[in-house]
Formats: sequence, structure tokens, C-alpha cells
Amino acid sequence: MLKLTLVCMLASLALAQHNPQWWGNRNTIVHLFEWKWADIAQECEDFLAPHGYAGVQVSPVAENIISEGRPWWERYQPISYKLITRSGNELEFADMVRRCNDVGVRIYVDVLLNHMSGDWVGTAHGTGGSVAEPGSKSFPAVPYTAQDFHPSCEIYDWNDRFQVQQCELVGLKDLDQSSDYVRKQLIEMLDHLITLGVAGFRVDAAKHMAAADLDYIYSNMRDLNTAHGFPNNARPFIYQEVIDHGHETVSRDEYTPLGAVTEFRFSEEIGKAFRGNNALKWLQSWGTDWGFLPSDQALTFVDNHDNQRDGGQELNYKSPKQYKMATAFHLAYPYGISQVMSSFGFDNRDQAPPQDAQERIISPEFDADGACTNGWICEHRWRQIYNMVGFKNTVRGTDLTNWWDNGDNQIAFCRGSKGFVAFNNNLYNLSEHLQTCLPAGEYCDVISGNLVNGACTGKSVTVDGNGYGYISIGAEDFDGVLALHTDARL
Ligand SMILES: *[C@@H]1O[C@H](CO)[C@@H](O)[C@H](O)[C@H]1NC(C)=O
Repeated sequence: MLKLTLVCMLASLALAQHNPQWWGNRNTIVHLFEWKWADIAQECEDFLAPHGYAGVQVSPVAENIISEGRPWWERYQPISYKLITRSGNELEFADMVRRCNDVGVRIYVDVLLNHMSGDWVGTAHGTGGSVAEPGSKSFPAVPYTAQDFHPSCEIYDWNDRFQVQQCELVGLKDLDQSSDYVRKQLIEMLDHLITLGVAGFRVDAAKHMAAADLDYIYSNMRDLNTAHGFPNNARPFIYQEVIDHGHETVSRDEYTPLGAVTEFRFSEEIGKAFRGNNALKWLQSWGTDWGFLPSDQALTFVDNHDNQRDGGQELNYKSPKQYKMATAFHLAYPYGISQVMSSFGFDNRDQAPPQDAQERIISPEFDADGACTNGWICEHRWRQIYNMVGFKNTVRGTDLTNWWDNGDNQIAFCRGSKGFVAFNNNLYNLSEHLQTCLPAGEYCDVISGNLVNGACTGKSVTVDGNGYGYISIGAEDFDGVLALHTDARL
């Protein structure tokens, strides 16, 4: 009996790491890739909180190696756990977390538990002034020495558990998480961030670490900081990067008891559908029937900072019409823990974020419509995306009903009696009288416009006493989606 109680306690502790600790009815995370801490703090106050974003995934916080040309991936090569990067220092980080929490926006940190930096000839210099000799696995600023790492070897068989978990991912020095000393360093680093008020962690390269070692590390982290508004005994939210397209030796299922897992199959399939390579009518069964993880274990995204650069089926900002439709579907359909990507523009895979002549990251600037101008894409500021974040907040807790499709690439559905959405990915017009499930009235389509001073700047739809409305999405319209909800009623 005692044993059973213990098992139940451990199980409930682990499940607690699935709770994103959102505030109010909010439920979408945005990844502000490579943003500076001071800019994120401002964005929480000026934009994210007013538009109902629940949280921000921030780029890695630990001091990283300075690499020629400052490619974005240098942030994934730590050389110490000092909180000094091109995004800012510890004071700026702490100020950001405080200010974002104060307006109900949570901070999740992308953490690197798997490895330190990769090979380097001679002495490597870090963003905080530390030095290291990665070639001999010497990182005195932690300190780590060669005995804290797995012996060097290459991953050439991605279905060999030993190689995947103990060899070096693209040459990055592979920490031995079974070592007490390494565990202690990692737990102290996570505890430090929790003390500063973060709500959880995106665990980079989780698949490359044994689940049992991660379980030990997570289980020994402290609870969230009540001084930042978290309840007593609240556990950090954990979402783990596990790329599993099926039939992999190291499976995503090993990690779901510990926290949520990035669902890469979602990203691939939603891209395929909205690129026109799979009819939208099939999306009626979207979710676990597609082989995806259970909804509350799946961290979902149309694209992330890695696969937006890889040229696969995944969509990115460079195909804006399809990208906005896929994002609207992502946020309208009741499945997954949603994350929206916010990118900087790139022409090649390695490109640095917008920076000045001194290689300092520059702050985003905004035009009169609030769009970013100077190299930052800011998908999260696109009306079609931030208004769907609002849609998702409004319809939270409702079921999907009244699925409609034309047998091809036109679909529509309701979310309870609070929201309605329609998509046209055919090369001909959608014009139908459809059940919207909404109370009678006139509604603003939050894709083509905003409700401003009681008037809609885009299309509006009149819903009759039976819930029907005339829905029109021309094949040539600027956007291929239309969305109505009860908080945008005229
Ligand atoms: C499609 O809709 C547009 C307006 O969105 C209209 O101008 C056009 O005539 C329509 N085409 C057909 C074939 O009905």
C-alpha cells in the first residue's frame, strides 16, 4: 500500500510538469527567437498581454561561445552557466521575468542540458568573458573537465540508442547526466532560473539524454517561485524536444511521463495539408488519429526555429497566405499546447539575427500598423495570427461541432456557441450559407479586420436566429480563412 501511494505520488508529481501555469484564460506561447530581454519585457507590456498571449519561449540564457559571423546556433553552444548572452545579462533577464509575470505572461527558457559547445581549435571565448578549451572538454567557468562528459564518438546510426544518447550530437561535447556532479550543476542552473520567476523549460535535445536521467534532474528541481504569483507546490512546465516521426528506437513515449513533448508530426502534417498536398477535408480527424500524442502532452507548432530552415513540408513566413491559414487552423482546432513562432528574416540557414556593426543584436522597430520592419518578421504581430490567439482564448473549453466540408479543400467548424471558422484552400470561391453556432447578430471577421470603436475594418457576417450566416472566401482573397467569435460582435 505504501509502495502504491509512493508510485501515485511520483506519477502526480511528474504529471504536474505538464501544466504550463498559464494565467487567466490565456493559452498560446510565442517563441521570440533571439529577442533581447529588455525588448521582451517591453513586448509583454505593450503587445503580448493586451493581445492575450500566455507566455514566451526565450532563446538560451547561458553564456555561449562566440562564433564567426554570429550564427543563431552559437546560442546552443554554452561554455558556462552565467546568464550573459547577446540577449542581455542577468539583471535584464530578471527584470524581464518580473515585468512579464506582472502582466500575466509566463517565461519559458530554452535550456541546454545535453551538451556544452562543439569542437574548437584552441581557446574559445564566451559572451560573458569566460574561456574554454572545448577540444579537451575543459570548461573552467562551470567547472567541467573531461570526466564529466561521455567519451567522444559520432552519431551515424540514428536508431542506435547508445549513439543517440551518448555520442556527440553534431560534435557538441556530450555531458554525462548520470554523474552526480553533472546533475548537481544542471539542477542548480534550473533552480536559479526558477528562483528568478520562470514558469518552465523547453529542454533542447531531450531525445539525446536518457529519460531516467532527466527524470532525476526534473524531480529535484525546486517548485515555482510563489513570489512571482505561482501557487504553492507548482511544478515547472517541461516541454522536451524529441524529434520522432515514428518507428524510432528512442521514442517520444519515453519522455511523456516527464512532461510535454514537441510534436513534430503535427508540424509536418499541417504544412503538407495547407501546401495543398493533402485535402483539408481529412483534417476532420486531426489529432491522435493521425498518430499524434495525446493533446495535453503535445507541444504543437506550425514551424519552429529549426524546421523553418530545413525546406521540408513545414510552412514558414515565406509562404504567408498558407502560413496564416495553417496557424489559424492550429489555433482554432482543439488540440495541443500551442506555440507560435516569431522569426527574424533569413536567406540562409546559418544567418545571424539582425545585428549592428558591433555585432550587437538590434531591437525590433514597428511601423504604424504595429508590424516589425528592420529584419524582424514578428509573425506574432500579424493580425491574422494575434487575433486567432484571441479566438483561442474566447473559445477555451468548448468542443468542436458542426464540421462542414465541400469534399475537398473548403472546411468550416464551430467551437461551441462561441466561435466559428472557415477555410478555402481551393482555387475556386467558397460561398455558402453555413451553420456558425453563434447567437444571432453581426460579427467581425477577425482575419480580414479588427473591431475598432464598434465597427469592423474587414468583412462582417450577419448570423440569423437559426445560427446561419453567409460565408464568402474568394479564391483570390488576401486571406483564405474567416473567423468569428463572440468577443468580436458588433
Ligand atoms: C469569386 O469571388 C470574387 C469576389 O471575392 C468575385 O469577384 C468573383 O466573380 C467570384 N468568382 C466566381 C466564379 O464566382
